[in-house]
Amino acid sequence: MAKKEDILYTGASPTSLVGSRVVELLGGIAPSHEELDILKPETFTKFNPKVLVHFAALTNVNGCETDPENAHLINVVGTENLVQYFGSRGVKIIYISTDYVFDGKEGPYDEDATPNPINIYGKTKLEGEKIVTSTSGANTIIRIAFPYRLSGTKSDTLRWIIGSIMDKKEVSVFDNLKANFTFIDDIANALTQAIEKDFKGILHVTGNEISTVYEIANMVVDTLGKEYSQYVKPKHFEVSDGVADRPLNGGLISQYKETLGIKMTPLIDNIRKIINSRK
Ligand SMILES: NC(=O)c1ccc[n+]([C@@H]2O[C@H](COP(=O)([O-])OP(=O)(O)OC[C@H]3O[C@@H](n4cnc5c(N)ncnc54)[C@H](OP(=O)(O)O)[C@@H]3O)[C@@H](O)[C@H]2O)c1
Repeated sequence: MAKKEDILYTGASPTSLVGSRVVELLGGIAPSHEELDILKPETFTKFNPKVLVHFAALTNVNGCETDPENAHLINVVGTENLVQYFGSRGVKIIYISTDYVFDGKEGPYDEDATPNPINIYGKTKLEGEKIVTSTSGANTIIRIAFPYRLSGTKSDTLRWIIGSIMDKKEVSVFDNLKANFTFIDDIANALTQAIEKDFKGILHVTGNEISTVYEIANMVVDTLGKEYSQYVKPKHFEVSDGVADRPLNGGLISQYKETLGIKMTPLIDNIRKIINSRK
């Protein structure tokens, strides 16, 4: 296992959703955006890691659609810069990617499925994947989906749903979009296993449940009590101006998770924990 000080992260500043929690759990070097700007290779030279975990990205899916140049710059050129500098120095690169590389026509998808992204975010993340894998067979792609945590500065879809329902605010949630919520602590464990066992290639790390967002909101209602059902309203996802298309029938499964000893926490356990922490 690489020592903590040998692991460098991009995009793991305290305001980030996934990286900030992973660093809390695993330790390592997590420079701010300014200290390590993936668009400014001159900021790379003070770092000398053995493993680079690349979280930094433009993650706003609609934002990528309306500003494709910026999405390309951060998600593709930024990744290319890192691979050129750190890859050429023998650093193992672990690129954090997404279920949005698939079209969501016939999910769920395993690691051998052929990507076919339907929005700019997915297209630019797939380009990033290709850059990372084509330069070295030793590199790793970890695809995640709908990451959530129990607490933290930046909100996520699961905590937004639970918080709104508990605050008795109406939530309109998609009944035709399947979500594959993934506990970020489990992603951190998967990263440890991937580094320790020197996993190479593509690895899917997502929760075991694949349900529509509406069904998940109803799991929350079942836990809180039927009187909360009035706050959950179904709505249908449709593409419109400024709204990127989504892989509706998506979700990821894995051929390798079990052999690597990666276990995923049941979603219902964490729904209960988040509810209890807010009571
Ligand atoms: N969130 C999701 O639903 C989701 C789903 C599937 C996959 N993923 C993937 O998981 C990874 C982490 O996602 P996240 O939700 O944690 O992202 P996030 O909360 O949006 O954080 C992105 C991070 O990237 C940093 N960043 C942006 N531009 C940068 C640059 N030029 N140089 C250095 N750092 C830069 C940001 O720093 P500042 O904030 O300081 O600018 C921030 O720390 C991403 O690769 C994403 O594609 C996310």
